Amino acid sequence: MKIIVTGGAGFIGGNFVYYELENHPEDEIICLDKLTYAGNMETLSKAMENPKFKFVKGDIADREFVYQLFESEKPDIIVNFAAESHVDRSIENPEIFLKTNVMGTQVLMDACRKYGISRYHQVSTDEVYGDLPLDRPDLFFTEDTPIHTSSPYSASKASADLLVLAYYRTYKLPVSITRCSNNYGPYHFPEKLIPLIISKALDDQPLPVYGKGENVRDWLYVEDHCAAIDLVMRKGKVGEVYNVGGHNEKTNLEVVKTILKQLDKPESLITYVTDRPGHDMRYAIDPTKIHRELGWLPKTKFDDGIKQTIDWYLNNKEWWQNILSGDYQNYYQKMYGNRISNAKQ
Ligand code: NAD
Ligand code: DAU
Repeated sequence: MKIIVTGGAGFIGGNFVYYELENHPEDEIICLDKLTYAGNMETLSKAMENPKFKFVKGDIADREFVYQLFESEKPDIIVNFAAESHVDRSIENPEIFLKTNVMGTQVLMDACRKYGISRYHQVSTDEVYGDLPLDRPDLFFTEDTPIHTSSPYSASKASADLLVLAYYRTYKLPVSITRCSNNYGPYHFPEKLIPLIISKALDDQPLPVYGKGENVRDWLYVEDHCAAIDLVMRKGKVGEVYNVGGHNEKTNLEVVKTILKQLDKPESLITYVTDRPGHDMRYAIDPTKIHRELGWLPKTKFDDGIKQTIDWYLNNKEWWQNILSGDYQNYYQKMYGNRISNAKQ
């Protein structure tokens, strides 16, 4: 099987590339990534040594380029991680979110229709459901919860989901969608809460907590998300949405304090800052469907996962320090500039 993984130089896509190479060594993986600020070839340096893996630099919204890639590679499965993924950035500049997250999804699915594939899988988010109130712990997002978005980011992801379902209904494109809660783990870009707090705490810098720090997120270790996507894209029902989450709800303050404790750093580093506009209060996934239909269950408990994650950041300081210094953006040109023949520069 030949699988195109878009956005594979990012956090979850990178983890997914390694998951596939390890668990399906018979398959070929092609990573298509534009290498935006969030894409990092250092994440893929080990994969680049594997003969079953290939990297192609390009934009999912560039129709001509995507069609050429499909024509030359004839992939069986497309799994689309490529996206602008940071809520705060979407509040500053929504436009690129619409271009990549909506138009990029359309271009990929048009290519699937034109060249034929066995599955198009869309990696979506629980943010399409909006948020839940703090005083109703009995409520969870199911696949039937109405779409109700808050930020330009979540609106762009919801728009893409609707388009994916429309391509299924209208063109019978064999699609599936997973909607997952917050991920954490290795290779997480240090603008997001957990890696930001780890990197700043190690440097004894103030830790920005939005509002009162009482917003709740439902944390899932990234490898468990990868396992869920792998199951759904291979065995999930066509035309269906599957929620993915592990019943791991924590307030932001709880998460920050856990990290500080593990690093033996003082809580006095916590600094309350102005809240995010439109800040979602609580996310909480009901994963019953994927468990019942496909037998998926998360393997990593939060206490273990956060320890493994902190250890990874301690053992891979160069990875995130290169991001903070900006050096990672030269890595692709330096290491692979002359080696990747079909890359679009
Ligand atoms: P990320 O920002 O770390 O990585 C995104 C990747 O996409 C980067 O490598 C970037 O270079 C690439 N990319 C961006 N625009 C592109 C374009 N136009 N063409 C080709 N490549 C492009 O994101 P992430 O956190 O790994 O999220 C991956 C996917 O999972 C996203 O679709 C996101 O919405 C979804 N998701 C994320 C989480 C989470 O907690 N991080 C949870 C649920 C769903
Ligand atoms: O739920 C899935 C979503 O999780 C994904 O779709 C998004 O791509 C991903 O970025 C993530 O969105 P969040 O907005 O939940 O993640 P973020 O790490 O930005 O923030 C997590 C919580 O921490 C949120 O309540 C805002 C808060 N926060 C965040 C940052 C960056 C802070 O308090 N301080 C910060 O500096």
